[in-house]
Amino acid sequence: MTIAVVGAGIAGLACANRLQQLGKPVQLFDKARGPGGRMTSKRSAEGYLDLGAQYFTARHPSFMAQVQQWQQQGVVAPWLAAMSQFVAGKLLPSPDAQLRFVGVPAMHSPLRQLAQGLDIRYQCQLQRIWQQDHYWWLQDTTGQDYGPFSQVVLTVPPQQAAALLPAEFSTLLPQQILTPCWAVDLQLTRPSGSNVGGIFVKDPQLPLSWLCRQNSKPGRAGPEHWLLHFTAAFSQQHLEQPASFWQELAAELLTKVLAQPVEVAAAICHRWRFAQIAEVAQPVPPVSLAAGLWLAGDWLRGGRVENAWLSGTEVAEQIQND
Ligand code: FAD
Ligand code: NAI
Repeated sequence: MTIAVVGAGIAGLACANRLQQLGKPVQLFDKARGPGGRMTSKRSAEGYLDLGAQYFTARHPSFMAQVQQWQQQGVVAPWLAAMSQFVAGKLLPSPDAQLRFVGVPAMHSPLRQLAQGLDIRYQCQLQRIWQQDHYWWLQDTTGQDYGPFSQVVLTVPPQQAAALLPAEFSTLLPQQILTPCWAVDLQLTRPSGSNVGGIFVKDPQLPLSWLCRQNSKPGRAGPEHWLLHFTAAFSQQHLEQPASFWQELAAELLTKVLAQPVEVAAAICHRWRFAQIAEVAQPVPPVSLAAGLWLAGDWLRGGRVENAWLSGTEVAEQIQND
């Protein structure tokens, strides 16, 4: 019988891919128009802009092998730009030996590769999951039911998973584990002259965690774009502020960090309600909530792209051995 996987981010796609390799029939559901989740890049006139995940590292041997395969397929490349940090009011070089990767031409490119050959129903927002006679059923927001499924793997953020599940399971899910992030992309009218790639912000005076010159990534040509991520605390505090608030503040902060005036030609502001894992450790539930009801996703394994992939793959293997 078919297994349902909810979410076509990297965890859901890795899970479905592994299940298919293991000979299991699988169907995916995602409310978005395509694969990617928090790795989705935004298409612009000149190319893709990464508003969510910025890069990924590979430390586990099986994810390293996956990344190598993606490199051979031409959908991932190393990002070799210089790293800096902003600390005590100064922008300083901060070189390191860490190998970082990005999807090319978009962060979601390797996920499109994973999605090939899978049965995925996009633009299908689920609102309810329930069990009947030992089988699992799903319902979307139009009232359409899907099922029966022998198993369901939920890879959506826990706050969104809780809304789908009966109370006996939803109360097991942590509600503050993924924190928000406001992201702003600024297109400059002329090049800044900076050769910086990414900037880790380590200055508590600034409400930013990260800045990135998008054009420093492989496959991103066109006019100069800077991406700014606001800290979780500041994003939470000003969650409902309009885009104009974020755009103005981002331009002011970019001027401060680069120590030169910048002129903005265009801006994109995006609010991620459930972005990255909170720094304070919180208890996570077991990956199996009930017979045939599974959880996967970055948040169960410490955050990050690599851990999302590992989480999805591991659940597929547990289902096989179950
Ligand atoms: P998701 O990508 O969130 O996938 C969940 C999917 O479920 C989504 O596609 C969503 O559309 C779908 N969904 C949700 N609810 C429903 C529903 N009701 N019905 C149907 N579908 C539904 N990680 C790094 O390693 N490096 C970084 O530099 C980095 N930077 C980040 C910056 C930001 C701003 C953000 C937001 C994240 C960043 N991350 C980074 C984290 C990384 O993006 C995540 O760890 C990873 O993408 C999570 O994948 P996932 O599959 O677990 O979840
Ligand atoms: P990584 O090893 O490049 O970064 C991990 C962290 O180390 C960075 O966030 C930064 O604080 C620090 N760092 C790394 N290189 C640095 C340098 N040259 N100069 C100064 N500081 C440096 O990549 P990893 O481990 O794959 O993490 C990727 C990203 O995922 C992080 O940058 C962060 O955005 C995010 N992340 C978020 C977490 C959270 O929200 N609590 C936890 C872990 C990662």
